[in-house]
Amino acid sequence: MKRDFLTVSDFATEEILAILDRAVSFKRNPHLRADMLAGSSVGLLFDKSSTRTRVSFEVGIDQLGGHSIFLTSGELQLGRGESIRDTSRVLSRYLKAMVIRTYAHEAVEEFARHARIPVVNALTDQHHPCQALADILTIQEKKQTLSCRIAYVGDGNNVTHSLVQAAGRVGAELVLACPPGHLPDQSILRAANAESRVPVSVLEHAEEAVRGADVIYTDTWVSMGKEGEAEERALVFRPYQVNRHLVSLAAPSCIVMHCLPAHRGHEITDEVLDGSRSVVLDQAENRLHVQKAILEFLMDRSS
Ligand code: CP
Ligand code: NVA
Repeated sequence: MKRDFLTVSDFATEEILAILDRAVSFKRNPHLRADMLAGSSVGLLFDKSSTRTRVSFEVGIDQLGGHSIFLTSGELQLGRGESIRDTSRVLSRYLKAMVIRTYAHEAVEEFARHARIPVVNALTDQHHPCQALADILTIQEKKQTLSCRIAYVGDGNNVTHSLVQAAGRVGAELVLACPPGHLPDQSILRAANAESRVPVSVLEHAEEAVRGADVIYTDTWVSMGKEGEAEERALVFRPYQVNRHLVSLAAPSCIVMHCLPAHRGHEITDEVLDGSRSVVLDQAENRLHVQKAILEFLMDRSS
């Protein structure tokens, strides 16, 4: 049997908490399990741009003693029509794990279905689970508790979906403020609420959502693949900008999070992104520690 990590829901709550604990250990000691992947290669198949995810996986795999092979569909026979099924079955014979960033979530699911090796979702149009675990780790580290109120303001996108699946499971209250027409997927929301200790609330107004919040989180208004809608989105999302006024409505000790890359002057102002409440660099760093813990978890449980 092998385990995959395609959405946050693939892990039980106690597994998520165990991974967060291990991530703390990896952060304290980067040399932990330094030979876990010795003699092994991990594939990184990226069909969308990436700075943090790609580099943190490459560095993490290196620190675990392994070798990473960076791939794009265009360079593989996949780009010339070879099936995902055949690609997955063949690559499973060479690699110890596969990390995939692409558009359709179904493509990663199909790859995982045919793979003998663990598959990790490094972002699809629907989910960004590695990001959500790094986000939770960052909140735990900064707030010393997960019993807090997170206000996510902006587009109901892949990052939102993964946060929706993670927050309630670890005991955090999540309040979303998204413009009409840009709400998260209702079936993801319903399913997350059904398995969550704290249901997610969805509001329309950003000011209402951030009132008393311990964490304000935002992401780009124009995710990869949505570039054609940039102009229209800039208008619709304008009232959802995380700026000095919005932050002033939150709890005095509120932290500001953004998965990055940020579009300064759009979803967040320079002043807030670079200000004293911003934890975005620690959040980005935590990607590395959490992903090492995710790889360890999957490798230890897959035979
Ligand atoms: N947050 C995140 O996934 O960043 P990259 O797109 O740079 O990997
Ligand atoms: N929602 C963004 C996240 C980037 C890390 C996107 O999909 O482009």
